[in-house]
Amino acid sequence: TRRAVITGTGHYLPERVVENSWFEDKLDTTDEWIRTRSGIERRHFAAEGQATSDLATRAAQAALDRAGLTAGDIDGIVLATSTPDFTFPAVATMVQSGLGMTRGFAYDVQAVCAGFVFALANADAMIRGGLAERVLVIGAETFSRIMDWTDRSTCVLFGDGAGAVVLEAQEGAGTSGDRGILSSDLNSDGAYRDLLYVDGGVSTTGTAGHLRMQGNLVFRHAVEKLARTAHTALEKAGLAPGDVDWLVPHQANMRIITATAQRMGLPIEKVVLTVADHGNTSAASIPLALSVADGEDRLKPGDVVVIEAIGGGLSWGSVVLRW
Ligand code: ACO
Repeated sequence: TRRAVITGTGHYLPERVVENSWFEDKLDTTDEWIRTRSGIERRHFAAEGQATSDLATRAAQAALDRAGLTAGDIDGIVLATSTPDFTFPAVATMVQSGLGMTRGFAYDVQAVCAGFVFALANADAMIRGGLAERVLVIGAETFSRIMDWTDRSTCVLFGDGAGAVVLEAQEGAGTSGDRGILSSDLNSDGAYRDLLYVDGGVSTTGTAGHLRMQGNLVFRHAVEKLARTAHTALEKAGLAPGDVDWLVPHQANMRIITATAQRMGLPIEKVVLTVADHGNTSAASIPLALSVADGEDRLKPGDVVVIEAIGGGLSWGSVVLRW
């Protein structure tokens, strides 16, 4: 069986770290509220002039280095973002150029916080379909650029960053011991637009707009839909929650993560957690978490890893893989 295996991970976080206390004299909020309601303690914000493609290029280079590859070995780039440098070209093409790549394809995927899950499933299908041997899959965001800094219910929750993985075709023996992506489950329901959206865009206001969210409603959908999509993907792979070694969830909120793990019957020790240090970095949060866990050698070859995310759309999904 031809499978797509993650052979390298990398990430980049902007230098500037902002602690919860930074918001206390700007808004009617406290470190205590942010910490207990979201699990977030600090986040990184991109510097002025630092664009999504800059973060993404550094994460991609780190993933190439860890895989022992160079840009010339890559057939394509799929990049998930909702905060692109420009309306076009795709951020992926700027990363391509930044890496010195002059061949292959490069395009963006937009599924907000579920973007990396969608991009990874997309790249996996291309690899299994024979369109590519090696694909860089990246999640990169600068959500600080679309925050309403007067809205305490959103601006304290998000951060900037980028994560990347190298996804590579490998021929396995077809046994259950095969490494690589085993299954995916993707969903969207545009009827939920008003729960989470940005109130600007080129074809409407002509502005970038600001993020608007009905947090408590998103929360309720998240817990229910994330547990369901993870179960569906596991079932497709012929696995059960008991087989899972690591859950790598989208890092939006510690309470959503805990409730989802509980519904899946997973102890919190099996969950990779970065939300305290990164905040919600949207499409970047999962590849960031994968890279942090991989850098600490916590993921062992053969481990069953479930990744899952939900975001604006609503769009949600999961991918099951054997590390
Ligand atoms: N500091 C102090 N008080 C606050 C703050 C703040 N920063 N923000 C909101 N509050 C207040 C509210 O005004 C409200 O006050 P009220 O009761 O007087 O009206 C109170 O706290 C409770 O507000 P809720 O919204 O009900 O609080 P909740 O416990 O639901 O927590 C939160 C809010 C953290 C936003 C939560 O709902 C959440 O995490 N939702 C999910 C968000 C998410 O994960 N989005 C995911 C995808 S993001 C993407 O796709 C881009």
